[in-house]
Amino acid sequence: MPDDRPPTSKIALRDMTRADIGPVRPIESAAYADAWPARAFEGELENAFARYRVAVEVPAPAPSLLDPLTDRLPLWAARPLGGPSRHGIVGFMGVWYMVDQLHLVTIAVAPEWQGRGVGQRLLLDCVDMGIEAELSMVVLEVRVTNARARAIYERFGFVRKGTLKAYYEDNHEDADVMILDLTSADALTNIEAVRAEHRARFGARFAE
Ligand SMILES: CC(C)(COP(=O)(O)OP(=O)(O)OC[C@H]1O[C@@H](n2cnc3c(N)ncnc32)[C@H](O)[C@@H]1OP(=O)(O)O)[C@@H](O)C(=O)NCCC(=O)NCCS
Repeated sequence: MPDDRPPTSKIALRDMTRADIGPVRPIESAAYADAWPARAFEGELENAFARYRVAVEVPAPAPSLLDPLTDRLPLWAARPLGGPSRHGIVGFMGVWYMVDQLHLVTIAVAPEWQGRGVGQRLLLDCVDMGIEAELSMVVLEVRVTNARARAIYERFGFVRKGTLKAYYEDNHEDADVMILDLTSADALTNIEAVRAEHRARFGARFAE
């Protein structure tokens, strides 16, 4: 889908706060048949083994704000002007740190923002968390019929390891368990290729 938004905004990633739960919930409801109640998000934000991130549309800076050496935004400018935004959230994801694994619990992009690189940017962030924490793998479950998400995971190098029968309560659909082996040099090389391709296609839309 062509990106027809005026180039007056950028997408920045930051940690989710309680104030973000309100705008995140409709994105989650649009994405999942079995959406969470608000208190589930509240619990997750207090869970020391969980981390939730949001992708936020922020005003693009005037060219004078760009670092002349890197031609990129300084970190402070990636924050929404006037404090954290409660209205510009376009996507989110959450992970659990589980011993030597990072578990991708949830990821969703607002319908009107899908196909613009936000989902892949969030997933790159997830993989980077696993690498930074020196974990051995990223693990996720995906509905067997979710072709769109599976195409992205496969491009990132996730491999199907098994199937959980009737895993989803709403329609008893099976889940495929997919893993990305962070100890594999080939897998990490592929991630860098995905990152480079994402930068080439969508880099101008992202603040960092
Ligand atoms: C999965 C999801 C997070 C992806 O986010 P996104 O921002 O749309 O993804 P991106 O723009 O970064 O990547 C787009 C890629 O999705 C795939 N895609 C896009 N439209 C598609 C379609 N109609 N059918 C199948 N695949 C499609 C392609 O691989 C595409 O890459 P391409 O542009 O090179 O063809 C988003 O679709 C979503 O929120 N879905 C509902 C929730 C969900 O299924 N979450 C995953 C649960 S495991």
